[in-house]
Amino acid sequence: MVNIHTSRDLTHTFQEGDYALVIDRRQRRYMFKLIPRQKYSTHLGIVPHDELIGKEEGYRFATSAGHVLLAVKPTLADFTKRMPRIATPVYPKDMGTILVLGDIFPGARVLEAGTGSGAVTAVLARAVGDTGKVITYDVRQDMQDKAKKNLASIMPNATQVTFKIGDVYEGIEESSLDRIVLDLPDPLKVVPHAAKALVPGGIILSFVPTVLQVHDFTHALQDSDAFGMVETVETLMRPWAVAGRAIRPSLRMVGHTGFITTARRVAPRLRLPEEAAETSPEEQPESE
Ligand SMILES: C[S@@+](CC[C@H](N)C(=O)[O-])C[C@H]1O[C@@H](n2cnc3c(N)ncnc32)[C@H](O)[C@@H]1O
Repeated sequence: MVNIHTSRDLTHTFQEGDYALVIDRRQRRYMFKLIPRQKYSTHLGIVPHDELIGKEEGYRFATSAGHVLLAVKPTLADFTKRMPRIATPVYPKDMGTILVLGDIFPGARVLEAGTGSGAVTAVLARAVGDTGKVITYDVRQDMQDKAKKNLASIMPNATQVTFKIGDVYEGIEESSLDRIVLDLPDPLKVVPHAAKALVPGGIILSFVPTVLQVHDFTHALQDSDAFGMVETVETLMRPWAVAGRAIRPSLRMVGHTGFITTARRVAPRLRLPEEAAETSPEEQPESE
C-alpha cells in the first residue's frame, strides 16, 4: 500500500488499503480507504469498494442509483484537505509557498513546530526525501498521535520523520538545521533558539493568521541581529470557472488563511563609523 507519490513507486491500479478519490458530475470530491466487501454510501448511491479494487486510476463507473463517478488516487494536496484532523491544517496554496520560499530541498534537515494534524509534516517529508530529516515538535500528545496516523496512512515508510513531544518556545535540542518551519501562535519565542540551531544562511519560516503576529515575529527577528532578509507574503489563489465561453472567476474563494514570513540566519550587522556607513542591503528596495 503506497498511497501518495514519493517517487515513481506508486502503482496505477487501486489496491486494498489505498485511498480512492471519487468525483461526481458537479466536481464534488469524496475520499475513502478501499477495504474488501465494504461499501461507501453517498446521496448519489452506493459504491462497493470491490468495484474499484484492481481497476486502473481514472476509472469511470455508475453507482447503485445510476450516477456516473470518476475515481483516481488522491494527490498529497487532496489528502491533506480531507484527512482526519484536530488542528486546522495549512491549505495547499500556502504549502506551495512554504516549500518554495522556505527552500525545502532533498536531503535538508528541517525542524517543524507544531505538528498539528501533520499536513505540513507530510509535505516536508516528501520534499526532503529519504536522505533528509524532519523533526517535528508539538506540546500535545493527541496532536502527534493523529499526525502519526495520518502520515502512516499515506507514507508508511517515512523514516525521515521524527515526532517529538516538546515545547519549542523552551528550546531546540537539534543543531545544524537547514530550515525551521513554524505554525504556532508565538513564533517570536523561537527566534533566540533558531539563531543557535540554524546553519549559516539557514531559513526560518513562520505561518501565522494575523498581522500582529507578523509584526511581533518580524521585530523579534530584526532585534536579534542574527537574522536578515526578513520578508512577509500572503498567497491568494482565485479559482476560475470555465464552462464553454462563460469564463469568469469562481464565485467562491478562500478569503484569508495566513501570512508567511521568512528570514535568513546571517552574521551580525557591521557597525561602521557613521560617515562611512552605506545603506545596508536590506534597506535598499528590491529591483524585481
Ligand atoms: C495550527 S496547529 C499546526 C497545524 C499543522 N501545521 C498542520 O498543517 O496540520 C498548531 C500546533 O502547534 C502546537 N503548539 C503550540 N505551541 C507550541 C509550542 N510552544 N511548542 C510546540 N508545539 C506547539 C499546538 O499544539 C498545535 O498542534
